[in-house]
Amino acid sequence: MTAAISIKCVSKSYGSNQAVKNLDLDIEQGQFFGLLGENGAGKSTLISMIAGLTSADAGSISILGKDVVEDYRETRRSLGVVPQELIDEPFFSIRELLKIQAGYFGLGKEQDAWIDELLDVLALSDKAHKKMGSLSGGMKRRVLIAMALVHDPDVIILDEPTAGVDVTLRRSMWAFIRSLHAKGKTIVLTTHYLEEAEELCDRIAIIKKGQLVALENKVDLMANHGEKKLEQIFLDLTEQEQEQSE
Ligand SMILES: Nc1ncnc2c1ncn2[C@@H]1O[C@H](COP(=O)(O)OP(=O)(O)O)[C@@H](O)[C@H]1O
Ligand SMILES: [Mg+2]
Repeated sequence: MTAAISIKCVSKSYGSNQAVKNLDLDIEQGQFFGLLGENGAGKSTLISMIAGLTSADAGSISILGKDVVEDYRETRRSLGVVPQELIDEPFFSIRELLKIQAGYFGLGKEQDAWIDELLDVLALSDKAHKKMGSLSGGMKRRVLIAMALVHDPDVIILDEPTAGVDVTLRRSMWAFIRSLHAKGKTIVLTTHYLEEAEELCDRIAIIKKGQLVALENKVDLMANHGEKKLEQIFLDLTEQEQEQSE
């Protein structure tokens, strides 16, 4: 089967800072994939290259077999990205934002029922007429999720969607993301909550300084490291690499 996301020998530097180093990674269709790493490891840089928002210095990335540069429109259609950074949009209501976002993909009224469903499942229905600025951080985060999903993409990347989100909302987000996965969507999740990755993901990559230090199915990763908690395995692997590079 064609990989959902195929990353081949991808590198990216900002000045002398190499954020992603010659990275190879395939994420299969239908996987619930955890992309883990400390702050600055290169996760968001990688995601922005997958989304075609930042160009790679070297290598190539394809989504469902299509190159993210050559077939930008098609790959954007297959992909929904929930960005790490919150945005403030002063002019439009939440519902207008969602309709504008659908418009980018050439979608109009036929998407209204889905927009209503997203607003409902993300508990935003009563905020639909409000603007971003009046919403709490947790609500803004949910609006970003709705915006990423408005065109019902098959491959969904969530960059720290639960950062700073209270435990009740986090649980409801887990249930929602799980329901997307159950519908057959490919999910890529970055998170600093290792128990979240342990709970949700079936395959896990750990990156450190732009390079993979682990890539395994979660059950194998856990078994191969003496059945420890994922958090301990993460610390062992990221520290171990540091010692080797010193
Ligand atoms: N737009 C940018 N300009 C300059 N440096 C950047 C930019 N984005 C990221 N970096 C740097 O690239 C590295 C990887 O960052 P990032 O991809 O945001 O990591 P992560 O998402 O894993 O925390 C860091 O050293 C960061 O400072
Ligand atoms: Mg990041």
